[in-house]
Amino acid sequence: MLIHPSILNCDVARIASELESISSADAAHVDVMDNHFVPNLTWGLPVVQACAAASRLPIDAHLMIEDPDRWAPAYAEAGCASVTFHAEAAHAPVRLARELHRLGSRAAIALKPATPIEAIGDVIAEFDMVLIMTVEPGFGGQAFLPSMLDKISRTRALLSSAHLDIAIQVDGGISRDTITRAAEAGANVFVAGSAIFSQSDRAEEIATLRHLASTCVH
Ligand code: DX5
Ligand code: ZN
Repeated sequence: MLIHPSILNCDVARIASELESISSADAAHVDVMDNHFVPNLTWGLPVVQACAAASRLPIDAHLMIEDPDRWAPAYAEAGCASVTFHAEAAHAPVRLARELHRLGSRAAIALKPATPIEAIGDVIAEFDMVLIMTVEPGFGGQAFLPSMLDKISRTRALLSSAHLDIAIQVDGGISRDTITRAAEAGANVFVAGSAIFSQSDRAEEIATLRHLASTCVH
């Protein structure tokens, strides 16, 4: 059970110390938005490079951008431990996954709420992780969509029946109130933005979320 805090709503003027405040996490989740794939604009490669240089945490880059085939490899070259692109945006997801691996990063594929897991069933073996969005991507602080629990369960069943060791990440509205349900459904990597960054003691919140996820019975 891995906790990846999203720095989307951190204090960007103090980004190095904000990263330090989550140093007990398993990775830092960095949301790249281009104002085309989603209606919001965050940051791009230079800021992600700065995060990688400023923190010992592995960087989990979540690219909510058009044309990841063109832009994603640079995030692997920048030293991100994992690069996630959206199935809805990629033209050649298999080629891109292999390119990310060749550049030394893990490769993950993300699904918006309306995209079923079955849409990527034939290519999922190329990936290290699948990201099931539990809100419409674009903003932090939205409510978890319980209707995504069935997709998480179907993903866990698909991976088990195919004997694939692929992580299931959930992102959006993950908090003390929702993490147990997501874990019970089969998720094992949890992104949490506002739940962690709204707390003054981030380490304690990370420990609480990890404990809640770990105590669920599959
Ligand atoms: C939303 C981003 C998330 C976001 C999560 O599109 O992908 O990573 O920061 O924020 P919370 O945990 O507040 O929903
Ligand atoms: Zn994200």
